[in-house]
Amino acid sequence: MIDQKIPLPRHVGIIMDGNGRWATKRGLSRSMGHKAGAKALKKLCKHLLKLEIPYLSVFAFSTENFKRDKEEVDYLMNLFITMFQTEFSFLKDEQVRVVFSGRREPLPVDVLKTMDQITEETKDNERATLNVCLNYGGQSELVDATKKVVQLVQEGNLKIDELNENNFAQYLYQDLPPLDFVIRTSGEMRISNFMLWQASYAEFYFPDVLFPDFTPKEFDKAILEFQKRDRRFGGVKK
Ligand code: IPE
Ligand code: IPE
Ligand code: MG
Repeated sequence: MIDQKIPLPRHVGIIMDGNGRWATKRGLSRSMGHKAGAKALKKLCKHLLKLEIPYLSVFAFSTENFKRDKEEVDYLMNLFITMFQTEFSFLKDEQVRVVFSGRREPLPVDVLKTMDQITEETKDNERATLNVCLNYGGQSELVDATKKVVQLVQEGNLKIDELNENNFAQYLYQDLPPLDFVIRTSGEMRISNFMLWQASYAEFYFPDVLFPDFTPKEFDKAILEFQKRDRRFGGVKK
């Protein structure tokens, strides 16, 4: 049981890894692993709402994932459409704002259309925010933010000295609070270009479970671990 008196993370990031291995282990196609992963995410979203965790960022597709076979990429793109149009429509009723992080190019038009639709339909929701990192890369995000800043400076709309660590996030894909807790499933211990700026002081957790098996119960185990961490932010605990 989670002790609600010990602070919970305000912003959780999940690198949803291991769908392919989950499917292969069962003699299924990798795509079936992605389908199972989507189901697991739906359950997690509902669970986080119950826990009143206000920000969740999920890594759904990295810029590097375009290196995969066309069949798998096409399956994932279609899965995103179905998810945003049907499976995740409960987010609207639950007052969740859905936002996306990543480059639009070279995402297919129909994926972009459903992304724009769910963004528009949920933009005024204030209960919680789900940030979906899709065609996302942390380094691309920093490069794109730098370009925005340079353009504003060149146009005379921003003075270089006004830019600092506290206001830089407004030039990122989404202006979200820093990540408190980053979970990567499947036992891999790397961040694979996920939210490099936002994760600067996050606590990390690397459970061995593959993402489709990452149930609300597994999430609670992660939270118990988070609550044991001593976050010092460079200071010294008295
Ligand atoms: C994560 O699972 C989902 C995406 C990257 C889209 P993987 O597809 O990377 O699964 P593994 O790592 O091959 O098991
Ligand atoms: C990271 O997983 C990206 C997502 C979960 C969407 P990958 O499976 O693509 O990462 P690597 O290739 O193991 O670093
Ligand atoms: Mg993987």
